[in-house]
Amino acid sequence: MSTTLAEPTGRPDTEGTWAVETHGLTKRFGNNVAVNGVELLVPRGCAFGYLGPNGAGKTTLIRVLLGLTHADAGTMSLLGQPVPKHRDVALARVGAIVDEPRFHGHLTGRQNLQILAAAREAAAKDRIGPSLERVGMSHRADDRVSKYSMGMRQRLGVAACLIGDPELLILDEPMNGLDPAGMHEMRDMILSLVAEGRTVVLSSHLLDEVERTCDAVAIVDRGNVIRQGPISELLAGASVVLQVECSEPDRARSLLGASGVRADIEVSESGLGITLPAGASRDIIAEANRVLVEGGISVYRLQEIQASLESWFLQVTSRLGATE
Ligand SMILES: Nc1ncnc2c1ncn2[C@@H]1O[C@H](COP(=O)(O)OP(=O)(O)OP(=O)(O)O)[C@@H](O)[C@H]1O
Ligand SMILES: [Mg+2]
Repeated sequence: MSTTLAEPTGRPDTEGTWAVETHGLTKRFGNNVAVNGVELLVPRGCAFGYLGPNGAGKTTLIRVLLGLTHADAGTMSLLGQPVPKHRDVALARVGAIVDEPRFHGHLTGRQNLQILAAAREAAAKDRIGPSLERVGMSHRADDRVSKYSMGMRQRLGVAACLIGDPELLILDEPMNGLDPAGMHEMRDMILSLVAEGRTVVLSSHLLDEVERTCDAVAIVDRGNVIRQGPISELLAGASVVLQVECSEPDRARSLLGASGVRADIEVSESGLGITLPAGASRDIIAEANRVLVEGGISVYRLQEIQASLESWFLQVTSRLGATE
């Protein structure tokens, strides 16, 4: 990485609210806008998912944040430090894996970490052992990296971040190449890092993983952040599906339609799927049940299904697609 002349900053600003803050951040490749006016606010001390499909601009955003490529427009700060102005100060407290961790294959995991530690403060060397232990790689630390599986490389990547004792970890697709057990371990590791007060920003196209791992999320599509915030708040804005198992589904649908219950109703083999609008009162559920029972329909089961982040994501993207 090239060095820039960071201005003396005195004590780092550890009081800033945001671990990552960007305004109008934009990166173009020719006519292709990979990062488009991104406004990102990542609170400290949480696991934050940057979620989007392939080509959405996740890796590009991370590369811009780390100064690996320049932004065309916008401003950004890491841990309260404006970058690129104070990039060296900020990056001293940041650990990152971009694309996938890269190591010297002919050297052992431990030797790779020794090389990285040599470029950092003296204390980094003392953190090699504990970092390897932390990611469960002590027993393979003296094997050559070329013999590691993808999951082991990912873990060594996290260990490489930890030797700098970072306040902020930025992990690009940390679940890539991991089997279900490996994903589970990575998730636990991320949660334990957050429990220590660190902030973890991870990019992913795996909606499910983000939902399970992260407290907050930004959903990105074609370079644009569509929504962001705590997952619980985003879900509160999602619609809920009411699954109804009942007799005579067609007649049940007509009864509800005639009664003026305001919802999208689909008929299935076993009954109805009723999509309630976001924020709808639960009285609609009682009302629907009353209409059906009074109309002579046998209701076997009523189940409210909270939209997952995935269905919410699909709702948002299809809604945007429909109105664009
Ligand atoms: N060096 C580059 N030169 C030209 N275009 C690029 C370059 N890097 C990325 N792009 C383009 O920018 C867009 C965003 O790419 P990026 O790699 O950031 O997406 P991503 O969200 O990380 O995707 P994935 O999930 O596949 O990793 C894509 O259209 C890609 O083709
Ligand atoms: Mg990527």
